[in-house]
Amino acid sequence: MKNKTVYIASDHAGFKLKSQLLKIFSKMADLGTKSDESVDYPDFAHKLTKEIVKNKNNFGILICGTGVGMSIAANRKKGIRAGLVNNAKTARLIRKHNDANVLVLPGRFININEAKKCVQTFLSTEFESGRHKKRINKI
Ligand code: RB5
Repeated sequence: MKNKTVYIASDHAGFKLKSQLLKIFSKMADLGTKSDESVDYPDFAHKLTKEIVKNKNNFGILICGTGVGMSIAANRKKGIRAGLVNNAKTARLIRKHNDANVLVLPGRFININEAKKCVQTFLSTEFESGRHKKRINKI
C-alpha cells in the first residue's frame, strides 16, 4: 500500500465484508456505512469517488450486494475507473490494463479470503500503460 491512501465504503449489503477487510487492512479510511441498517449505495459511491479524484495516489474499495450498483454509480464520476471483480486474477488485470482506481466487490457473492486476495493484488499491481493508455484515453 506504499504511498497510497485507500478509502473504503459499502452499503448495508457490503457492511459485513467491509468490517472484515478493515480488521486486516486497518489503515484504510472508512467512509461508511457504519451498520447493517438499510441505506442507498449511490450515497456511498458518491462520497468515496469524491475523495479518489482529489489525488492520483488515492484508491478506493466499494462493496454492495452484487457490486453492480456501486460500479454503475462510481463510473458516472469523471476520473473514476471502477472495476467489479470476484477473483485476484481479475483484480490484477483491472490495474494492469484499465488503470482502475476503484475496486468493487460483491459482498454477497465473495468470501473474505478471496476478497482479501483481490484487495492485496489490486493495491500492489501497477498499470502497464503503453497500448492500454491509448485505449483509456478514448473513454
Ligand atoms: C441492496 O439490497 C442491493 O440492492 C445492493 O447492495 C446492490 O447489490 C445493488 O446493486
